[in-house]
Amino acid sequence: MSHKSNDSERKILVTSALPYANGPIHLGHLVEYIQTDIWARFQRLRDNTCYYVCADDAHGTPIMLRARQDGITPEELIAATKKEHEADFADFLIDFDNYYSTHSDENREFASSIYLKLRDEGHIHTKTIKQAYDPEAEMFLPDRFIKGNCPKCGADDQYGDNCEVCGATYDPTELKNPVSAVSGATPIEKDSEQYFFKLSDFSDMLQQWLKEGHVQKEVANKLDEWFEEGLKDWDISRNAPYWGFEIPDAPGKYFYVWMDAPMGYMASFKNFCDNNKVNFDNYWRAGDADESKTELYHFIGKDIARFHTLFWPAVLDGAGYRKPTAVFCHGFLTVNGQKMSKSRGTFIKARTYLENLNPEYLRYYYTAKLSSGVDDIDLNLEDFMQRVNSDLVGKVVNIASRCAGFITKKFDKQLSAELPEPELYNDIVAAGEQIAEFYENREYNKAVREIMAQADKANVYIDENKPWVLIKEEGREDEVQKICSQGLNMFRLLMTYLKPILPATAEKSEAFLNTELTWANIAQPLLSHKINKFKPLLTRIEKEQIEAMTEASTESMPVKETTQVAQQAGPLADDPIADEISFDDFAKIDLRIARIVKAEHVEGADKLLQLTLDLGGQSKNVFAGIKSAYKPEDLEGKLTVMVANLAPRKMRFGLSEGMVLAAGPGGKDLFILNPDDGAVPGMKVK
Ligand code: MSP
Ligand code: ZN
Repeated sequence: MSHKSNDSERKILVTSALPYANGPIHLGHLVEYIQTDIWARFQRLRDNTCYYVCADDAHGTPIMLRARQDGITPEELIAATKKEHEADFADFLIDFDNYYSTHSDENREFASSIYLKLRDEGHIHTKTIKQAYDPEAEMFLPDRFIKGNCPKCGADDQYGDNCEVCGATYDPTELKNPVSAVSGATPIEKDSEQYFFKLSDFSDMLQQWLKEGHVQKEVANKLDEWFEEGLKDWDISRNAPYWGFEIPDAPGKYFYVWMDAPMGYMASFKNFCDNNKVNFDNYWRAGDADESKTELYHFIGKDIARFHTLFWPAVLDGAGYRKPTAVFCHGFLTVNGQKMSKSRGTFIKARTYLENLNPEYLRYYYTAKLSSGVDDIDLNLEDFMQRVNSDLVGKVVNIASRCAGFITKKFDKQLSAELPEPELYNDIVAAGEQIAEFYENREYNKAVREIMAQADKANVYIDENKPWVLIKEEGREDEVQKICSQGLNMFRLLMTYLKPILPATAEKSEAFLNTELTWANIAQPLLSHKINKFKPLLTRIEKEQIEAMTEASTESMPVKETTQVAQQAGPLADDPIADEISFDDFAKIDLRIARIVKAEHVEGADKLLQLTLDLGGQSKNVFAGIKSAYKPEDLEGKLTVMVANLAPRKMRFGLSEGMVLAAGPGGKDLFILNPDDGAVPGMKVK
């Protein structure tokens, strides 16, 4: 991309929150990256300088444990994840100037120099505190790694800070029957010395800063509550073993991941500056930033507002850096009105989406839904399909496809020398200022509504002038050329307004219109201008694509050993029959007789056996939860019924390529068919 330099331009640096390096990017994350990317692209389209940086958040206990579990080093884990994240972002057309990692030299340098500065200014002190400790794993446990029964409703297997069943929040010490999620041991309490940042030193500064409108109203109100409770000191250290940066003057103590994570914004930008000869201090050093009038914005989700609106500005201020011009907070994504859910197939990974659908559809839909507030936004898959099809394909692209053919075929690709309706054109130009303001204020939903209102006008114009009728009448060719030129010029305006949202379609439109779409040039229509051949820009979403995505998301859930085990079901009253399915649904299930050729124990699994099944020539590998009922050797040679067309699922132990059916009350009584003369492997069961 180009960052043009001119005098009136603004100089802006924007960031999105740094995704954790232990999981894939999903559609929830993308709300933020799409929101930020559109804002950055809009600024560039308006000829401002706008840098957009991000990074993986690569430290912390979950990453350390995840790497351990996978049998790799944390370095290997974060390198692999970073690669995946970068590919996902690139394919969603997120245009970072730099994508870095918090586990970098630059970040280590910032973490250490900022800490030392805060310490020298007297904002750090130490205190001995009691924390949960796993005596078996020999490590202190973050809340998330303590599980037990909810103190309110008794539900088991709940995390240390809140109950997913009744929604209660509590202290990990309140959990009944607590166990460490790392080793299963009962945690004990243990004393250790920790390093604290004195947030209260910055109380006045923060209150003043918040009054100046750097955060949204809703966020400021929430912060008022925290101020009323009084600002507590912030524990910025963790004991070894920990995956992160060691504190320079405290061997064996590490910076808490949330201490060095926001510094990752600086580190990523520093790395960019060093490679591109941009002045870092102009964007970050308190005095320099004021003088050079740069702006700094953080886009974040509402769950991490406190870190970005209290701790982070205080840390920056204490260390002599500028504070953000604004922190922009957005709400959470729900899918079909509910929290994303793996069992409903609505926990959709970026990659799963991309395997089924065009990224611009989602960019458009989120834009149509996003406001400047912190409300949650819902991805309703039915509405998503309709909205994209009717707005983008039906309204916008349609204008071009209805006009392009005539210009290409009848007028040697040449647009007319004048527009038949310049006022209509100018009207749509005039709407641009309002649209720009909506973009600037992150009222994307309003921007989209305004752009579509303009598209409606353009369509009405074409409907009324019917070039496809006129072309058949003698002597009216000139009119047809003018009408279609008017249409294509209006299309050009609409695509310019949509360019931040639909960069790929905008690029294709540029090729077709044979011109660069720039905001600065909208007032001047394309006249006596040669265009290129029209190629389809965007196609409709088909229902099957959505279904395929949902299906793939249902399967990609990490299968817990127990969820496979049908015998765990209780009596009907406790476990009512699931939603009715149609005969067609049932007919899709291909049940086959299979012979168990081999049955083996699975290392590390209490309930599973690994079965090699013969389907009459074809062999399948299946993990089945029937270990309680059968010794492997007793199974070999037996026949069973299997779901032969179940999509393979990756389990912790390997790929499972189907399911075997067994009946019985469970435990030891679980029955598989005995060999029977009538049944032959591969035979259809229904
Ligand atoms: N690593 C921290 C951020 C550190 S920033 C210095 C983190 N990572 S995250 O991967 O959990 O989330 C990254 C961003 O995605 C956050 O802003 C978070 O709010 C956002 N979202 C994660 N899930 C989301 C939804 N379901 N919906 C909308 N945004 C969500 O937090
Ligand atoms: Zn509960």
